[in-house]
Amino acid sequence: MNFALGTIPFGTTVNEKDTFAILDRFAEAGGTMLDTANNYPFWVPGCTGDESERAIGSWLAARGNRDRVFLSTKVGARPAVPGDLTLDSAEGLSAAVITKAVEGSLERLRTDYIDVYWSHIEDRSVPVAETLGAFDDLHHQGKIRSSGASNLATWRVERARNLSAARGWLPYTYVQARHTYLRPRPLTRLPESGHRLATDELLDYVRDEPDMTLWAYNTLMFGAYTRADRAIPDAYDHPGTTRRLAVLREVAGELGATPNQVVLAWLMADGVVPIVGVSTTAQLEEAIGAADVRLDEELRARMDAAC
Ligand SMILES: NC(=O)c1ccc[n+]([C@@H]2O[C@H](COP(=O)([O-])OP(=O)(O)OC[C@H]3O[C@@H](n4cnc5c(N)ncnc54)[C@H](OP(=O)(O)O)[C@@H]3O)[C@@H](O)[C@H]2O)c1
Repeated sequence: MNFALGTIPFGTTVNEKDTFAILDRFAEAGGTMLDTANNYPFWVPGCTGDESERAIGSWLAARGNRDRVFLSTKVGARPAVPGDLTLDSAEGLSAAVITKAVEGSLERLRTDYIDVYWSHIEDRSVPVAETLGAFDDLHHQGKIRSSGASNLATWRVERARNLSAARGWLPYTYVQARHTYLRPRPLTRLPESGHRLATDELLDYVRDEPDMTLWAYNTLMFGAYTRADRAIPDAYDHPGTTRRLAVLREVAGELGATPNQVVLAWLMADGVVPIVGVSTTAQLEEAIGAADVRLDEELRARMDAAC
């Protein structure tokens, strides 16, 4: 199953029992990729940002299945000032921060290695060579197996990868950005600080670099494709959205699938790994069903043409 499970509410709004039930069902269905960070969900009053990693660590310890999980976590966006609910005091991406932060993640996740370690947000106060050098050291120490850049401009990803190639360092082979079937309005701004939308340039770049994979977040727009209680985010407020939603509903109807499943299938058919955040097993079942949705060339072309 080629989607990653988002884990932001695990251990907080989703209690441990329900977290375990979701993770068990995901694993049973063949899911392996888990996405977390060393700060989820620090912005919720009363939380530290340890909660999601700790919940995953408890589950891994209880099930003894670390070798069957592909674990992704991130560094850089944890508030340095405890209790800060914003990114104003974000720890950043210095070598000193990374070297210390990885130990915290390993301890909370109850593991001795991370499959993909991400720089969570951009930090232009630190030379990119310092961040990459620190990641490379962790790779040599066996603490991380690969690295990724989350919320980074395409030109910065390219610069980083060039630098890694020149110095023989571990390169970024993953990028993470906000991406779904709807396309954002040009020049739009997201209300969530630190988040970055996948641009046409990033999508083109990833398609052209065989060793790179895009992990897309907010793929279901918090449920807005299907839920009356969730508005389509303002970033997608333009005439092309009406056309895309119409085609999405047509295709879903023809295939007997849900719009959410078609969105996930469309992303996976493009080589993208969708990260799907769920808070119930029913939501997870819907995402699992996306693996059975086959979009042939004609359907993909129809979906792509709507803009
Ligand atoms: N790199 C980054 O900066 C970054 C940023 C954001 C997220 N992420 C990652 O991406 C993951 C997902 O992101 P996200 O939570 O922002 O976006 P999302 O996956 O679009 O939204 C998740 C929410 O959508 C609702 N939902 C999910 N499946 C549904 C279904 N089948 N039917 C109806 N509603 C459904 C649920 O809301 P309710 O719980 O309210 O029911 C769920 O909590 C996160 O857990 C995290 O791992 C990364």
